[in-house]
Amino acid sequence: MKNYSKIALSVLFLSAAVFTSCSNDDETPAPVKASIYERLGGTKMVADPDNSGQMIEQGRLSFRKVVNSTIGLIVADIQSNASGNLQAHFAPLLAETGTTQATNIAKLSDNLTDFFSFNTGGTNAVNTYSGLSMAAAHNPATNPRMGTKSSSADYTKFEGYVGAAANANGVASNTELYTDIVAVLESLRTPIVQK
Ligand code: HEM
Repeated sequence: MKNYSKIALSVLFLSAAVFTSCSNDDETPAPVKASIYERLGGTKMVADPDNSGQMIEQGRLSFRKVVNSTIGLIVADIQSNASGNLQAHFAPLLAETGTTQATNIAKLSDNLTDFFSFNTGGTNAVNTYSGLSMAAAHNPATNPRMGTKSSSADYTKFEGYVGAAANANGVASNTELYTDIVAVLESLRTPIVQK
């Protein structure tokens, strides 16, 4: 999956490079677009609001907020039995109780934060992703915590949760940053949709 998101990022960087070379008549190169991670705050160290006395890169903190909001929206829809909810996919994770459940949701949050951060330009060691590949993570045969395979409609639903979570954390839908994030998400549809 890293490869898929890297492909999307390469396209973004390549577009910036092509634009630069096309507009080179006056020999003034257009600025290369900053990575998504950079635009979300990058490596600037800030106080971690959830861990007293600790510092965190602002880019990672931005992603963690979006990830936690996404998980919150998914779980809320499952609990209220909202139409199209992802209960069938997340059932094994949510069936784990007590501290086990807390541990595993925290682990998913951490892995998702690593994954998004690392693959959008946050390449410092703190963001190293050590989970499964996107294909393996979303196949119940290789990840028993994945309740059932995802259809394209499930994927679109998931993307909607991420979009709403981004909106709730200050990334408006009508911004270039939002469009670039959606492009990275779209680049992962193929390995994740498996039915
Ligand atoms: C942009 C799209 C997505 C990304 C980047 C993503 C990323 C991830 C990552 C990094 C993990 C953790 C893997 C590990 O711990 O080894 C994971 C697990 C999981 N994902 Fe996704 N995912 C996406 C879409 C979806 C969709 C569409 C569904 C369901 C409809 C889904 C359901 C799950 C479930 C149930 C797990 C298992 C939780 C666990 O192993 O702890 N994901 N995903």
